[in-house]
Amino acid sequence: MSRDEELIALDRRCLWRPYTSSEDHESRPLFVVDRAEGPWLISADGRRLLDASGSWWCNNLGHGHPRLRRALVDQSERLMHCTLAAATHEPAARLAAELIDVAPEGLSRVFYSDNGSTAVEVALKIAFQYWQQNQQPSRRRFVALPGAYHGDTLGVMSAGAVDAFTAVFRPLLFEVARPSEPVDHDWEPVFGELFSILRERPDEIAAVLVEPVVQGAAGMRAYPAELLAELRRVTEQTGALLIADEVFTGFGRTGPMWGCDHANITPDLVCTAKGLSGGMLPFAATLATERLFDGFRGDKSRALMHGHTFCGNPLGAAVAREVLAIYRDENVIEAARPKAAKVKKAILAMKDIPGVKHPRAVGMCAAFEVGAAGYMGQVGWQISDFAFELGAHLRPLGNTVYIVPPLNVDDADLDRLLEIVRASTERVLLRAS
Ligand SMILES: Cc1ncc(COP(=O)(O)O)c(C=O)c1O
Repeated sequence: MSRDEELIALDRRCLWRPYTSSEDHESRPLFVVDRAEGPWLISADGRRLLDASGSWWCNNLGHGHPRLRRALVDQSERLMHCTLAAATHEPAARLAAELIDVAPEGLSRVFYSDNGSTAVEVALKIAFQYWQQNQQPSRRRFVALPGAYHGDTLGVMSAGAVDAFTAVFRPLLFEVARPSEPVDHDWEPVFGELFSILRERPDEIAAVLVEPVVQGAAGMRAYPAELLAELRRVTEQTGALLIADEVFTGFGRTGPMWGCDHANITPDLVCTAKGLSGGMLPFAATLATERLFDGFRGDKSRALMHGHTFCGNPLGAAVAREVLAIYRDENVIEAARPKAAKVKKAILAMKDIPGVKHPRAVGMCAAFEVGAAGYMGQVGWQISDFAFELGAHLRPLGNTVYIVPPLNVDDADLDRLLEIVRASTERVLLRAS
């Protein structure tokens, strides 16, 4: 038995993989990753696959950026972990200031946690506790979008609306108000309904939670920035807090540094994780305004009652600081523009393949549909199987096929990825038609 065969056998026997049925766990081909470089996942025998889903959307700078590896090693020689309760350290303090510098204007406080779900969970708790202890305890309800995905802990799942992920847990979740699904990709009525919810009983709404401009797990669904700008105006009029979940959209994934930048707005709370982590260590942050921070002033009973062991971990913080430095020094956002244009051109051109529906691209994020069955659809997986043979690791959201390449991907690698997406889609859909 080769080493890889042994690892696959161990995986199938002992591992419990995320979002994977036991049927798939036991039968789908498995690639044993030995190392990774830039956009490539590489096996021990040198087989290379383009990582089209960016190892779950966090690999904005590619795998193993030498500066990130250096930052990690340097930090590991000084301090690997230390609580942020009654102690501080350079990576956490400096990163907080540096994040505030690049954040939408007006955010001035940083609360650390370890992943996207906790970053959003923290935002919900800040919003809730803020109103409870600041003279408006009736503001207890949250509002979220249809198709929302904000993570997998119980609080954020309550705000989620992808049934495939949350339906079974519904009895455990709290109620969240939500407008209806868009029809034919028309988001205006959805936001119209959302504004009515906010205006109907303003004194009951704690906060509105949205993924700005692109909803990732719902199937890379985009909505117009003007609606987000209008939402900011309505929340200002009605007093509800606005929480932007930038876990996926942040760090240039949709073009500008933040999804909110498309609408030129500052929310009350911003959640960031994937791009911030450099794709290296679990790391996340929730940014808040001074007004919210002020709402927690006072004695011990008014403190934010939340904190994780690895809150602001020095290794993660040192890497995140280096991520920001690379964005600055390598002009990552600007340099990604022509690449995003290339992605858009190639993906929109796929509408000539019979069966490809609604091709779209926003920044370095592109997607199309290949059938109606949504997350449980199988056609996307057939395309993924062909892509695997051709050299790409493409993990669809059911019948939504998408790519989120590193923002700094080489043009040649990007061309190859786009060719593989087209070729594997043609192989499945032309054969079917
Ligand atoms: C918009 C958004 N929010 C939150 C999360 C949860 O992040 P994590 O998987 O790091 O908990 C995700 C993950 O995909 C996401 O896309």
